[in-house]
Amino acid sequence: MSHFIGVDIGGTNIVFGLLDDELNLLRKSKKPTGAANGVDYVLNLIASTIDELLAEQGLSRADLGAVGMGNPGFVDPERGVALSSANLKWENVPVAEKLGGLLGGIPVFIDNDVKMYTYGEAARGAGRGYKHVLGVTLGTGIAAAMVNEGKLYYGSGFLAGELGHVPMEGESALCGCGMRGCLETIASATGIARIARERLERGEASVLGEWFPGERIRDITAADVSRAYDAGDALAADVLRFVGVKLAIGLAWAITLWSPDVVVIGGGAANAGERLLAPMREALMPLILPMYRNRVVIKPAEMNDDAGVVGSAAFARSRAGL
Ligand code: BGC
Repeated sequence: MSHFIGVDIGGTNIVFGLLDDELNLLRKSKKPTGAANGVDYVLNLIASTIDELLAEQGLSRADLGAVGMGNPGFVDPERGVALSSANLKWENVPVAEKLGGLLGGIPVFIDNDVKMYTYGEAARGAGRGYKHVLGVTLGTGIAAAMVNEGKLYYGSGFLAGELGHVPMEGESALCGCGMRGCLETIASATGIARIARERLERGEASVLGEWFPGERIRDITAADVSRAYDAGDALAADVLRFVGVKLAIGLAWAITLWSPDVVVIGGGAANAGERLLAPMREALMPLILPMYRNRVVIKPAEMNDDAGVVGSAAFARSRAGL
């Protein structure tokens, strides 16, 4: 019986999953990425963690059918190359070949992280039972992916879905991609924290100013903004409404172009839940035609961390023909 490994690599953490041949998740592990230590450090860490997971389950490399990995950035899944990743600072890394070598020749398949996440949610999470699933993750970065009747849509250069890099009118924050005012600078976890911080620095009143006095203002996270919202803070509510409206503009274009049955929203910033999704839905509905409005379901993701690893493992299993 073949087993599979799914790896979801992010700028901060790497999540690993060991799955059986029916894609049941047997074991999970999470490690800091340590991207600043360079590509070889990260790939060696991945290989040694895979060995650890196998040993914990009483298995060896011989029991592995394939390894799948979701990478934050542009990927060529046919050649297994990470073309460019602003969050990892990787350029043209032949991940499948290098990691496959470290693992003694086990087939390794890589793809974009949000494509893998959406593949997982479409098969086993909030997209289950729908034909046309649009996944959007709001993490450090933002991207979208479309799964149509079980198949990912890639577009030219495998680049379909880079929704984080559409410009928002009137916005000018510098994005990791080098452009300014991208949706990702606003509707991401880092964007929410930045906007709250900037408004505090402009002297606006908020309980966040009491919780994070002086220099500590730099420590504010998106989760703190949600906490302040729950404490009835007007600035926090306004920041989440503002972010929700910008996200709605991005989603209006995506829904109109792709006409999904369901939009599954995941990623760290989506932990704000209805605090963010309620103003987003309210802003979105007048921006899309009634025919979309009456069909499209907008839902939070269901699998959290598991979506990326299950999606990557499922993708690897299918690419390996197992
Ligand atoms: C990248 C995408 C990636 C997303 C989430 C964006 O900045 O351009 O390729 O999928 O972040 O990690």
